[in-house]
Amino acid sequence: MPEIAPVTLQTERLTLRFLHASDTQALYTIHSDPAVMRYFSGTAWTDPAQGDAVIARALDGYSDGSSMELALVLRETGKLIGTMKPHAFHAQNRRCEIGYALASAHWGQGYLSEAMRVTLDYLFKEMNMNRIEADIDPRNLASAKLLERMGFQKEGYMPERWIVNGEICDTVFYGLLRRGWESI
Ligand SMILES: CC(C)(COP(=O)(O)OP(=O)(O)OC[C@H]1O[C@@H](n2cnc3c(N)ncnc32)[C@H](O)[C@@H]1OP(=O)(O)O)[C@@H](O)C(=O)NCCC(=O)NCCS
Repeated sequence: MPEIAPVTLQTERLTLRFLHASDTQALYTIHSDPAVMRYFSGTAWTDPAQGDAVIARALDGYSDGSSMELALVLRETGKLIGTMKPHAFHAQNRRCEIGYALASAHWGQGYLSEAMRVTLDYLFKEMNMNRIEADIDPRNLASAKLLERMGFQKEGYMPERWIVNGEICDTVFYGLLRRGWESI
C-alpha cells in the first residue's frame, strides 16, 4: 500500500489521530494493565520502552502503508485512552485486519463502539476496503459483542492458535464485508 497520510477522525467524544513520539507513557499505562492484556496475544507490558517500540512500528506502518494505528483521545481532556489499529492492509484484495484496546477505567461506556464506527466508515469509504477481519479470543465477550454490534460475522474457529505465557488459546475469526457495512 502507498504511504498513509496523517488521518484525524472526530466522534462526539473522541479524536482519533496518528500516534506521536510523546504518547509512550499513555500507551504504557494502558498496556501494563493485565485486565487490558488478558486476551491479547502478548502479556502485560513491564517497560515503558515497549511503548516506544510500538510508536516506531506505527510510524513505519504509516510510511509503508501496512498499518494505520490511531490514538483514541478524549476531546474534553486531551487524554489518550486507547488505540484502534487497522493493519495488514492488502492492496489487491482491498482488505485489512483490525485490533483495539481501551484503558479499563473507560470500559462499558460505548467509547469503542463510537471509535469503531468512524474507523470502519473511513476504511470502507476513504480507503476503499472491501473486507475487514478480526481475530479474537472466544472468551473476550466485550470484544465479540462490539464486533457483532458493528455487523461483523463469525466466520471461523481456530483451536489453539496462540500460546501466551504458556496458556494455549483459541481464536474466533470475524469478518465484515463492505456490503454488510453498507446495509446496516
Ligand atoms: C473490548 C473493548 C475494546 C470494548 O470497549 P468498550 O468501549 O468497553 O466497548 P463498548 O462500551 O462500546 O461496548 C461494546 C459491547 O460490549 C459489551 N460489554 C462491555 N464489557 C463487557 C463484558 N465485560 N462482558 C460482556 N459484554 C461486555 C457492551 O455492553 C456492549 O454491548 P452492547 O452493544 O450490546 O451494549 C474493551 O473491553 C477493551 O479494551 N478490552 C481489552 C482489550 C481487548 O481485549 N481488545 C480486543 C483484543 S481482540
